[in-house]
Amino acid sequence: MNSQIIFESGDHKCIFIGRDPKKKEQIIDTNEYIIQSGDEAILLDPGGIDIFPAVLAEITKYVSLENIKVIFASHQDPDVSSSLAMWLDLVKEVKIYTPWIWTGFLAHFGMGTEFTLNGLPDEGAEIKIGSNGSTVYAVPAHYAHSSGNYSLFDPKSKILFSGDIGAALLPSDYPIYVDDFASHIKYMEKFHQRWMPSTQALRAWVRRARAINPSVIAPQHGAIFTGRNVTMFLDWLDNLEVGKWEMGSESSDIYKTVWMRWKK
Ligand SMILES: [Fe+2]
Ligand SMILES: [Fe+2]
Repeated sequence: MNSQIIFESGDHKCIFIGRDPKKKEQIIDTNEYIIQSGDEAILLDPGGIDIFPAVLAEITKYVSLENIKVIFASHQDPDVSSSLAMWLDLVKEVKIYTPWIWTGFLAHFGMGTEFTLNGLPDEGAEIKIGSNGSTVYAVPAHYAHSSGNYSLFDPKSKILFSGDIGAALLPSDYPIYVDDFASHIKYMEKFHQRWMPSTQALRAWVRRARAINPSVIAPQHGAIFTGRNVTMFLDWLDNLEVGKWEMGSESSDIYKTVWMRWKK
């Protein structure tokens, strides 16, 4: 697992964790992020059970576990927070925030641990981190892709942590930052077309993102957008049609076999 500081100013820093060359091939690669402000930290989308030891080993290079006060789960997927019970064993006083519609679903990741899930309201919310008064904002991203879903904006770093929006399926040696946007599209296009159900919802998120005007967009899979790539990415999303699956459009042989059998 790799990691690096992607923002640092005074006592505020953001850390990227991802690109695990040792993860099993069938597991989708994920990015985990930590925002540390003063002596407290928020862990964003802590990841799945399988990669928990690797993520933990990276996090402890930067942050003391007792300083992690908040866990944010952008939506209900297992790659986002199926490791929750393991984290709760280590950081007992932590506050967990997730979309209100998924609290009863995330509770299935508890593995017998007693914990409270704080449901975020549909319109979003501010979340305080750090004794220095730092606040981050849960920005609605419903139906992009999950029906209850948030991005998270950190005004100090001006990073918009976008969840699955901007996700790319990349080789494990791909750089952490997007360099040439045009050649990056091929890694993102199919993911968005299939995992994003609503063009209308995606356009609404782009309007929100433009209003926020982030310096950096950091997705939960793939590479980070900086500089003019932020605008190029938002422009690209604004012109993308998603949720357009049609019967027979899958290329998988397994799919075709199953479908042909079912049709008979
Ligand atoms: Fe997801
Ligand atoms: Fe994801």
